Amino acid sequence: MKTKRLSKKVEEILNHQVLKEANAAQIYLSYGTWADEEGYAGVANLLFRHSQEERNHMMKVIQYIQSRGGRAKISALSAPPKDPKSLLDCFENIFKHEVDNSTAIYEIVSLTQNEKDWATYNFAQWFVKEQIEEETLAMDILDMLKIAGGEKATDESLLYFDNKMGSMDDEAELARNVSAVAP
Ligand SMILES: [Fe+2]
Ligand SMILES: [Fe+2]
Repeated sequence: MKTKRLSKKVEEILNHQVLKEANAAQIYLSYGTWADEEGYAGVANLLFRHSQEERNHMMKVIQYIQSRGGRAKISALSAPPKDPKSLLDCFENIFKHEVDNSTAIYEIVSLTQNEKDWATYNFAQWFVKEQIEEETLAMDILDMLKIAGGEKATDESLLYFDNKMGSMDDEAELARNVSAVAP
Protein backbone atom coordinates (compact mmCIF):
# COMPACT_ATOMS: atom_id res chain seq x y z
CA MET A 1 0.00 0.00 0.00
CA LYS A 2 1.24 3.46 -0.86
CA THR A 3 1.53 5.58 2.28
CA LYS A 4 3.50 8.49 0.91
CA ARG A 5 1.60 11.73 1.57
CA LEU A 6 3.75 14.11 -0.48
CA SER A 7 3.57 14.70 -4.23
CA LYS A 8 6.82 14.44 -6.17
CA LYS A 9 6.89 18.22 -6.66
CA VAL A 10 6.27 19.00 -2.98
CA GLU A 11 8.92 16.51 -1.91
CA GLU A 12 11.36 18.16 -4.34
CA ILE A 13 10.71 21.70 -3.17
CA LEU A 14 11.02 20.63 0.48
CA ASN A 15 14.33 18.94 -0.28
CA HIS A 16 15.46 22.13 -1.98
CA GLN A 17 14.64 23.91 1.30
CA VAL A 18 16.66 21.34 3.29
CA LEU A 19 19.66 22.36 1.19
CA LYS A 20 18.91 26.08 1.54
CA GLU A 21 18.78 25.85 5.34
CA ALA A 22 22.00 23.81 5.41
CA ASN A 23 23.72 26.39 3.19
CA ALA A 24 22.40 29.19 5.43
CA ALA A 25 24.03 27.47 8.41
CA GLN A 26 27.33 27.45 6.46
CA ILE A 27 27.08 31.18 5.67
CA TYR A 28 26.52 32.12 9.33
CA LEU A 29 29.31 29.78 10.39
CA SER A 30 31.75 31.29 7.91
CA TYR A 31 30.80 34.89 8.79
CA GLY A 32 31.14 33.94 12.47
CA THR A 33 34.75 32.87 11.99
CA TRP A 34 35.41 36.13 10.08
CA ALA A 35 33.88 38.24 12.88
CA ASP A 36 35.86 36.38 15.52
CA GLU A 37 39.12 36.91 13.63
CA GLU A 38 38.32 40.62 13.27
CA GLY A 39 37.96 40.79 17.05
CA TYR A 40 34.16 41.07 17.20
CA ALA A 41 33.50 38.35 19.75
CA GLY A 42 29.90 39.43 20.38
CA VAL A 43 29.00 39.37 16.68
CA ALA A 44 30.74 36.00 16.30
CA ASN A 45 28.69 34.63 19.18
CA LEU A 46 25.44 35.84 17.58
CA LEU A 47 26.40 34.39 14.19
CA PHE A 48 27.44 31.01 15.61
CA ARG A 49 24.17 30.77 17.56
CA HIS A 50 22.28 31.66 14.42
CA SER A 51 24.11 29.03 12.41
CA GLN A 52 22.79 26.46 14.87
CA GLU A 53 19.29 27.84 14.42
CA GLU A 54 19.53 27.38 10.63
CA ARG A 55 20.61 23.81 11.22
CA ASN A 56 17.53 23.30 13.39
CA HIS A 57 15.40 24.60 10.50
CA MET A 58 17.05 22.06 8.22
CA MET A 59 16.23 19.26 10.71
CA LYS A 60 12.63 20.46 10.97
CA VAL A 61 12.17 20.08 7.20
CA ILE A 62 13.96 16.71 7.15
CA GLN A 63 11.73 15.38 9.91
CA TYR A 64 8.60 16.64 8.18
CA ILE A 65 9.51 14.97 4.85
CA GLN A 66 10.25 11.70 6.61
CA SER A 67 7.07 11.84 8.70
CA ARG A 68 4.98 12.19 5.52
CA GLY A 69 6.46 9.03 4.02
CA GLY A 70 8.98 10.87 1.83
CA ARG A 71 12.74 10.68 1.77
CA ALA A 72 14.86 13.66 2.76
CA LYS A 73 17.88 14.16 0.52
CA ILE A 74 21.24 15.06 2.01
CA SER A 75 23.24 16.87 -0.68
CA ALA A 76 26.64 18.50 -1.02
CA LEU A 77 26.81 22.05 0.33
CA SER A 78 27.94 25.16 -1.53
CA ALA A 79 31.13 26.96 -0.59
CA PRO A 80 30.37 29.87 1.77
CA PRO A 81 30.53 33.42 0.33
CA LYS A 82 33.76 35.36 0.56
CA ASP A 83 34.43 37.35 3.72
CA PRO A 84 32.45 40.56 4.12
CA LYS A 85 34.32 43.87 3.85
CA SER A 86 32.90 45.33 7.06
CA LEU A 87 30.24 44.73 9.70
CA LEU A 88 27.80 46.75 7.60
CA ASP A 89 28.58 44.61 4.55
CA CYS A 90 28.21 41.47 6.70
CA PHE A 91 24.71 42.34 7.91
CA GLU A 92 23.58 43.72 4.55
CA ASN A 93 24.50 40.36 3.01
CA ILE A 94 22.71 38.53 5.80
CA PHE A 95 19.57 40.61 5.26
CA LYS A 96 19.65 39.88 1.50
CA HIS A 97 20.14 36.22 2.24
CA GLU A 98 17.14 36.12 4.61
CA VAL A 99 14.92 37.87 2.04
CA ASP A 100 16.02 35.30 -0.54
CA ASN A 101 15.10 32.53 1.88
CA SER A 102 11.67 34.08 2.51
CA THR A 103 11.08 33.99 -1.28
CA ALA A 104 11.87 30.26 -1.26
CA ILE A 105 9.39 29.71 1.58
CA TYR A 106 6.70 31.65 -0.32
CA GLU A 107 7.25 29.31 -3.28
CA ILE A 108 6.50 26.35 -1.00
CA VAL A 109 3.34 28.10 0.17
CA SER A 110 2.18 28.76 -3.43
CA LEU A 111 2.87 25.24 -4.59
CA THR A 112 1.08 23.62 -1.66
CA GLN A 113 -1.84 25.98 -2.17
CA ASN A 114 -2.07 25.01 -5.87
CA GLU A 115 -1.90 21.33 -4.99
CA LYS A 116 -4.29 21.69 -2.05
CA ASP A 117 -1.69 20.00 0.17
CA TRP A 118 -2.99 21.70 3.29
CA ALA A 119 -0.77 19.67 5.62
CA THR A 120 2.42 21.03 4.02
CA TYR A 121 0.80 24.43 3.61
CA ASN A 122 0.23 24.46 7.36
CA PHE A 123 3.78 23.25 8.02
CA ALA A 124 5.19 26.06 5.82
CA GLN A 125 3.34 28.72 7.84
CA TRP A 126 5.75 28.20 10.74
CA PHE A 127 8.56 29.21 8.37
CA VAL A 128 6.63 32.23 7.08
CA LYS A 129 6.49 33.58 10.65
CA GLU A 130 10.08 32.59 11.36
CA GLN A 131 11.26 34.53 8.29
CA ILE A 132 9.45 37.68 9.46
CA GLU A 133 11.41 37.37 12.71
CA GLU A 134 14.70 36.79 10.94
CA GLU A 135 14.24 39.71 8.55
CA THR A 136 13.24 41.94 11.49
CA LEU A 137 16.32 40.89 13.44
CA ALA A 138 18.61 41.71 10.49
CA MET A 139 16.84 45.07 9.96
CA ASP A 140 17.15 45.94 13.68
CA ILE A 141 20.87 45.14 13.61
CA LEU A 142 21.37 47.23 10.44
CA ASP A 143 19.59 50.15 12.12
CA MET A 144 21.87 49.86 15.15
CA LEU A 145 24.94 49.77 12.91
CA LYS A 146 23.79 52.87 11.06
CA ILE A 147 23.27 54.68 14.37
CA ALA A 148 26.78 53.58 15.37
CA GLY A 149 28.06 55.42 12.27
CA GLY A 150 27.84 52.81 9.50
CA GLU A 151 31.08 52.58 7.52
CA LYS A 152 32.39 55.60 9.45
CA ALA A 153 31.71 54.14 12.90
CA THR A 154 34.49 54.66 15.43
CA ASP A 155 36.20 51.74 17.18
CA GLU A 156 34.51 52.82 20.37
CA SER A 157 30.99 52.69 18.96
CA LEU A 158 31.74 49.34 17.28
CA LEU A 159 32.96 47.99 20.61
CA TYR A 160 29.64 49.01 22.16
CA PHE A 161 27.78 47.46 19.21
CA ASP A 162 29.76 44.23 19.52
CA ASN A 163 28.98 43.96 23.23
CA LYS A 164 25.30 44.38 22.51
CA MET A 165 25.38 41.67 19.81
CA GLY A 166 26.79 39.11 22.22
CA SER A 167 23.78 39.41 24.50
CA MET A 168 21.17 39.94 21.77
CA ASP A 169 18.14 37.63 21.69
CA ASP A 170 18.14 35.11 18.86
CA GLU A 171 14.71 36.21 17.82
CA ALA A 172 13.30 39.67 17.30
CA GLU A 173 10.02 40.31 19.04
CA LEU A 174 7.34 41.07 16.49
CA ALA A 175 5.15 44.10 16.97
CA ARG A 176 2.05 41.98 16.43
CA ASN A 177 3.01 39.76 19.38
CA VAL A 178 3.62 42.61 21.78
CA SER A 179 0.72 43.41 24.04
CA ALA A 180 -0.24 47.07 23.95
CA VAL A 181 -1.69 46.75 27.44
CA ALA A 182 0.74 46.84 30.33
CA PRO A 183 0.61 43.52 32.24
FE1 LIG B 1 16.23 29.30 8.30
FE1 LIG C 1 17.53 32.49 8.51
